[in-house]
Amino acid sequence: MAYDPSQMMITNKFKTPASALRFLLLSALYFLLIHAANGKVHHHKFVIRSAPFTRLCSSKNILTVNGQFPGPTLKAHRGDTLVVKVYNQANYNLTIHWHGSNQVRNPWSDGPGYITQCPIKPGNMFKQIINLSTEEGTIWWHAHQGWARATVHGAFIIYPKRGHTYPFPKPHAEVPIILGEWWKEDVMEVPNVANITGRQPNTSDAYTINGQPGYLYPCSKKDTFKMNVDYGKTYLLRIINAVMEEEIFFAIANHKLTLVGKDGLYLKPIKTDYIMITPGQSMDILLEANQRSLGHYFMAARPYFSVDGARFDNTTTTALLVYNNSHKHHKKSPILPNLPPYNNTQASTIFTKKFRSLATKTHPINVPKKVDTHLLFTFSVNLLNCTHDKPCNGPFGMRFSASVNNVSLVHPANIDFLSAYYYKVPGVFEMDFPKKPKREFNYTADELPEYVLGTSPGTKVLVLEYDASVELILQGTNVLASDNHPIHLHGYTFYVVGSGFGNFDPKQDPKNYNLIDPPQETTVGLPKNGWVAIRFKANNPGMWLLHCHIERHASWGMNMVFLVKDGPTPQTQMIPPPKDLPKC
Ligand code: C2O
Ligand code: CU
Repeated sequence: MAYDPSQMMITNKFKTPASALRFLLLSALYFLLIHAANGKVHHHKFVIRSAPFTRLCSSKNILTVNGQFPGPTLKAHRGDTLVVKVYNQANYNLTIHWHGSNQVRNPWSDGPGYITQCPIKPGNMFKQIINLSTEEGTIWWHAHQGWARATVHGAFIIYPKRGHTYPFPKPHAEVPIILGEWWKEDVMEVPNVANITGRQPNTSDAYTINGQPGYLYPCSKKDTFKMNVDYGKTYLLRIINAVMEEEIFFAIANHKLTLVGKDGLYLKPIKTDYIMITPGQSMDILLEANQRSLGHYFMAARPYFSVDGARFDNTTTTALLVYNNSHKHHKKSPILPNLPPYNNTQASTIFTKKFRSLATKTHPINVPKKVDTHLLFTFSVNLLNCTHDKPCNGPFGMRFSASVNNVSLVHPANIDFLSAYYYKVPGVFEMDFPKKPKREFNYTADELPEYVLGTSPGTKVLVLEYDASVELILQGTNVLASDNHPIHLHGYTFYVVGSGFGNFDPKQDPKNYNLIDPPQETTVGLPKNGWVAIRFKANNPGMWLLHCHIERHASWGMNMVFLVKDGPTPQTQMIPPPKDLPKC
């Protein structure tokens, strides 16, 4: 639906010139906000409500947007604006996040509960405005409160600017492939149970492709997603990992995949037999339908899981790639692709190391060459003692926790961080999040001192000056057990300039940085027992969450918040809060 400027005309009569002026100013502000990018404006209605679904031989109600699972696909062109009215008709406090959109100057519409807004209460509505800027490709949206995102998520497709083309031949058609997870139990209860016991949350019962578990699960033959193709044509797969808990290997039998974009940013094409995609990531992949001997082929997805001894859902979800007009072969059963073994870190690394930006005239990069703000964050899974008011019986009679620089983020209960900052409410957060670990240790050693096991809860934010050139080293640790952590930053895209295993070496490792064509990402897989160096310019004022996109780690506290100060001019400052911003 196109935006109609005549709606902005003043039709009311105003009693006082002051109120008329106020209205004019507000209208002008709204007008500027939604026209800043000078693309089209799309209006959408998202109604979050529960709806019955049957999977794996049983039925239950799940949270949905507009009754759909996965939810509706949003489509826009680069530079467009979306106005989404989010109605909460469910029984939970909820929010929606537009994962991979930068929300320039507008953190108010970002969505993480208690960080940039209070949740939308049942019965209420919040109008979120997404001003697209440089995003192009596939991103997605999902709930950002509790574990609601397990079923409340969908694709968000951003085409090139009108009149512009893809940096690759135009595909015949495009197909979103959303990887998800299914729990037989009520997924909203999973974190509550884990919180009481202090143990690992229950694992899922199935993975899904576009909401369907597929052939290999009980009662699921019919619940298999099918993608029809014509021989000789090329298709654009828009793959999103909306799984809560696991990184995923994905492949299609007998077919090569060509990765051309990630997280809504283009990459130099990479030909591959399989992909490793972390929770939070999205990938644009070209698929050439160039096989016909069998007529149909399985695509399959299962976890990449590298933690020794921990439980995980080790099942495999499948969908069918079906060639049109080749019925004679359909009686033969389709074949499964070769996927790397679950714990094959090498397979994950080989694929991930290939990412490169286009770095061309039409798609230039702008990686900060000089750094003025050096940060080093450790990401650990920790253990805490059970207490009187919080009894538990997790590992060693303790409870799981997780941290960034040994701080486990706890959010306020009655206000969000951003409002507290904007309205200068004291006592809600501290501004002393550590720029590096308080106590250095050999992060990735086999044997670690006992004092590194604990963590402390905190409401600390890290303050960045406007336009700071930031280099942030993400450092994995072997505390308790090392794991791959998909680290996601809200409000920004960043350049991944380096990565490796072991401890980051500030003398040697920067020598091998890629400052020529580093990939731009919004969610980066921090390798098990390794490090990643990212760079960005802190030019988007607001409060922005950084967290692990593995849900149990985030639930345990592996989150932190950046406070990026306003710049000197009105154009470099965050906009004021919308009138309908939810209250706690
Ligand atoms: Cu995909 Cu903080 O989110
Ligand atoms: Cu993690």
